[in-house]
Amino acid sequence: MLIAQISDLHIRDHLGMFGELVDTSKTLEKAIHLLNALDPQPDVVLATGDLTDDGTKEQYSQLLEILLPLNAPLLPLPGNHDVYSEFLNAFSSKLPDEIPENHCSYVIDDFPIRLVALDTSLPGQHDALFSEDHELWLSNVLSQEKDKPTLIFTHFPPFETGINFMDLSGLKSADRLEGIIRNNPQVKLVVAGHLHRPIQTSFASTMISVCPSTGNQLKLDLNPKNGSAVDEPPGFQLHVWKTDRFVTHTGIIWDGKELDMSQYVAYVNEKISKNEGIIKD
Ligand SMILES: [Fe+2]
Ligand SMILES: [Fe+2]
Repeated sequence: MLIAQISDLHIRDHLGMFGELVDTSKTLEKAIHLLNALDPQPDVVLATGDLTDDGTKEQYSQLLEILLPLNAPLLPLPGNHDVYSEFLNAFSSKLPDEIPENHCSYVIDDFPIRLVALDTSLPGQHDALFSEDHELWLSNVLSQEKDKPTLIFTHFPPFETGINFMDLSGLKSADRLEGIIRNNPQVKLVVAGHLHRPIQTSFASTMISVCPSTGNQLKLDLNPKNGSAVDEPPGFQLHVWKTDRFVTHTGIIWDGKELDMSQYVAYVNEKISKNEGIIKD
């Protein structure tokens, strides 16, 4: 199974704080073009929050228009830049009927991997909370399918990344989430966004992968007094499930050169089929 992830799309209709760095509509269009050109195609695309900059009706309709050409089915989550009521209006047709009252968490059981969306965002706030409600909901959901490989997707990474100002406005009570995952080794991967950088860590019995933004990135600066946004190339991730593990790739959205290596690929395939070594020229 091939799971694509896009995050922190931040579709906006003004220059705002970061609009001068990146045109997020254009970079998302390029991301969709790249995803549609993949062979094999992703089975599903996870959109892990901050889908718009301010959560207005106008920004969601702009977003829906850009998403229209996407071939694979999209599973959306809100982030701290979204507005829940407008998010629900925009994506009601893509969300399952059963969603808890106070958060947009849900389960998709249509694939070989169980997909669990976990929404920990708080209305009107930039930080988040893994509450007792989330704890009950997630424990219950995970107890229903202990043997099926599971991926949890969420907006806020449940660990300290070292980018201090983002950690301070991060997820509270992440230790409760870690406890649940420790008791559910069928969770093979947790994927998140919010940090606008690719970051990985081990977590309980699994891995967490944080996806870059399809718009602007945050600077890699571990000085706790610093923080800045940069126009490093945008990206997305592909989580490939093969046999019993995920392999995560970070794809870069760029307009660079490409050198065709199909002759060498054919040579390697031929040598391997004949059980021969790959000779250096
Ligand atoms: Fe964001
Ligand atoms: Fe965020």
